[in-house]
Amino acid sequence: MGNTLSRRTLLKRGALLAGGLSFAGGLLNKVQASPIITPHSGYVPAFPEVWNERDYLTDEAVPMKARLSANENPFGPSDKAKKAIEEALPTSYQYPFRSMSDLSKKIADFEKVKQENILLASGSSPLLMAAALYYGKPGSNIITGDPSYADLPSKAERMGVKINRIPLTPEFKLDLDAMEKAIDSNTSLVYICNPNNPTATVLDKDKLKAFCERVSKKVTVFVDEAYIDYLPDPQGTTLIPMASTTPNMIVARTFSKLYGFAGLRIGYVVTQPDIIKKLGLYTEASMSISTTTLQAALASYQDREFLDAALKKTLASKDYLYSVLKKEGYTYVPSSTNFVLFPIKMEGRQFTDEMMKRGVSVRFWKFDNKEWCRVSIGRMDEMEAFAAAFKEIS
Ligand SMILES: Cc1ncc(COP(=O)(O)O)c(C=O)c1O
Repeated sequence: MGNTLSRRTLLKRGALLAGGLSFAGGLLNKVQASPIITPHSGYVPAFPEVWNERDYLTDEAVPMKARLSANENPFGPSDKAKKAIEEALPTSYQYPFRSMSDLSKKIADFEKVKQENILLASGSSPLLMAAALYYGKPGSNIITGDPSYADLPSKAERMGVKINRIPLTPEFKLDLDAMEKAIDSNTSLVYICNPNNPTATVLDKDKLKAFCERVSKKVTVFVDEAYIDYLPDPQGTTLIPMASTTPNMIVARTFSKLYGFAGLRIGYVVTQPDIIKKLGLYTEASMSISTTTLQAALASYQDREFLDAALKKTLASKDYLYSVLKKEGYTYVPSSTNFVLFPIKMEGRQFTDEMMKRGVSVRFWKFDNKEWCRVSIGRMDEMEAFAAAFKEIS
């Protein structure tokens, strides 16, 4: 079953846990000392505080017209994925050991890496968390952009890790030079989100590669490529080949975006086997993925017909959004992804609440002394609902 946690290891862990529960005292203490149970300083679940219902759900009385707050792909999952889910149901009483291996092999073959370089999980979030837990050692610091995807840094911050947030360049890109300068002897990780969420900007590949070559000699670089499938040339942009051959580099990918799997949950990292072992201490990895999701992923991975159609519809909706913003006298940050960030003329929370009252969910940010709205790209009817609500309040 590929490079992921072997069945024997998992059974051993299960036995340890069961033993720990039935023999309190000595064995329980040993079990509690296991890293999967006791992280460096105790993990406090981030989700309930980070996830704000107001950003995603309307009041019960208001029908949701457009869900544009979570960068999902409403054109997915593909028909092939849906059919695979149905077909997987009769055998879903079995653990999906074979399909875990089949999927990591499929990805490895496509990316021209070895299976031992891939760690699958139920979305990339559990892997971001594993990295936060492993690299968030007491006294260490993590460097990230500001604003950037906050998940990994905020989880590490809750464990007492110092987060060094580096402002973006005037083009709203991660400031690689300033990030490199900020590294000190306590830095344990540099988190690079490329393309960046929430700005939708992408870094110059050669510049990022040179940065990773230099920086990974000193500290681990985590490159989150959640939105890379939206770029015109993902294969020419990804740092997966580098992560499979260079020590101290991790690349994270997810099926949640262009594949439309946000609710199905599957993601992975590509890195060196020694790092996979370390991250594996803090995640159930592929054991947390359902048979149905694995079969859906196997059926739709690199399905160009579906992916290109979803990309085309996303671009059409995005062009429409640009035209609405221009017509209303707004500027925006040109987007390389399935979301667009633009400055608004109202306090952010008030703006999102007003949109939500009209059945449209979007997110807000505050940086650079401005209030910003991030709107995900949805179906055309959703973008029209956005336009109607936006015109009322702008
Ligand atoms: C940059 C980035 N990374 C990771 C994730 C987490 O994705 P998932 O856990 O669904 O794979 C997201 C979700 O929005 C994201 O924006």
